Amino acid sequence: KNIVVLISGSGSNLQAIIDACRNGQINGNIKAVFSNVPEAYGLVRAQQAGIATELVESKYFASRTDYELVLADTIDRYTPDLIVLAGYMRILSPTFVNRYTGKLLNIHPSLLPKYPGLHTHRQALDNGDSEHGATIHFVTEELDGGPIILQAAIPITPQDSEAEVIKKVQQQEHRIYPLVVGWFMQGRLAMRDGKAWMDNH
Ligand code: GRF
Repeated sequence: KNIVVLISGSGSNLQAIIDACRNGQINGNIKAVFSNVPEAYGLVRAQQAGIATELVESKYFASRTDYELVLADTIDRYTPDLIVLAGYMRILSPTFVNRYTGKLLNIHPSLLPKYPGLHTHRQALDNGDSEHGATIHFVTEELDGGPIILQAAIPITPQDSEAEVIKKVQQQEHRIYPLVVGWFMQGRLAMRDGKAWMDNH
């Protein structure tokens, strides 16, 4: 089965998924890594792993609609069974999202529904939360609002530095994203009636 991964940055989650495909935790292959940012280090990770890379930069398109049409057409050339957003920092339109309903995953660095959007770690610390974490969800039209599949929580205190918290959350991300992608590839996970469905057998 085919996986396509979209990134904008370092690609440490991408790396965790590459590793999991290699060691058999995920029964599938990453066919291509897409970035909207030329200097995204994740592109180097992909090349090092022998995976095709595609750079689709929005600035070369007259509108978001044009950008997303080319993005989607290029993605479709790889006939993906699953599209994984891993630190992809652009908001996708409903048209794009609905083209891939049920096969589009995202990871978000908060315990959703808390803190959709940006600066999640800072908000959790500033609010004096005792826990924080990461969420994997199916992508729907609502930003960071699709059905939740899996969350990982870590304890935090207001004394923690933001950098420390980011690091701990990312360690959790690298654990849970390969797990969820693995389930999807096994056919144990799907989106049904707008909810995350899991076969627990
Ligand atoms: C992750 O923390 C993810 O939750 C957020 O962006 C970060 C991406 O990191 N949306 P990386 O590019 O996978 O290293």
